[in-house]
Amino acid sequence: MSKKIIIAIDGFSSCGKSTLAKALAAKLEYVFVDTGAMYRAIALYFLRNNISFTNELSIAAGLSKITLHFEYNPSTFKSDIYLNGENVEAEIREMQVSSKVSEVAAIAAVRDFAVAQQQAMGAQKGIVMDGRDIGTVVFPNAELKIFVTAKPEIRANRRFLELKATDPTITMEAVAENLQHRDHIDTTRAHSPLKQASDALVLDNSEIDRATQFEIALNWANERIEKHNR
Ligand code: DC
Repeated sequence: MSKKIIIAIDGFSSCGKSTLAKALAAKLEYVFVDTGAMYRAIALYFLRNNISFTNELSIAAGLSKITLHFEYNPSTFKSDIYLNGENVEAEIREMQVSSKVSEVAAIAAVRDFAVAQQQAMGAQKGIVMDGRDIGTVVFPNAELKIFVTAKPEIRANRRFLELKATDPTITMEAVAENLQHRDHIDTTRAHSPLKQASDALVLDNSEIDRATQFEIALNWANERIEKHNR
């Protein structure tokens, strides 16, 4: 049987990382993990329970009460995230969480909590994980690292169309501002900021469609799998 690899996909918000990661995982029959969903679920717990983002004791106490797991949803063909047994997949995508999640993801204790679980999920390889620090911190030895980018205006437009489907009051300005704000926090935070791993392959999808992007990434994956099995 072919030995499996780890595929780390990093990049800015709303670049289509999850779509790509999900498609690759389905094709290769690997596990797909959306690590952003984990940070979003933690942020949701903190918001619901009024946990201060600066109080280390309440952060530690809060984290000790959080259990996260993913469960496959046959109607969407992807795994939903569960926070203490509750499916929070829809709620974590709302603006209330989106506007606070970067602050929560910048907390060192939160990152340690999430990264330990991510590393455990990848221990057997055969995983496609998307996030911001997967190729740099979570799996620095991943056999394939892809860094996905797209022009900011294209990313904002994609996110706007996505959010508008469920929230007709959303404006393009609010979406663009939220993205800019998150990019800033994600790239400048002290703990494992978003940055391209030196050995990552860059995939700019501004001018290419999903199918082309998928073809490119799948070729890279097959190359690395073959090399890993030599
Ligand atoms: O990919 P996303 O938009 O769902 O991510 C939500 C937030 O979590 C975003 O601000 C970046 C942060 N994040 C992170 O810091 N590290 C990861 N591995 C994944 C997401």
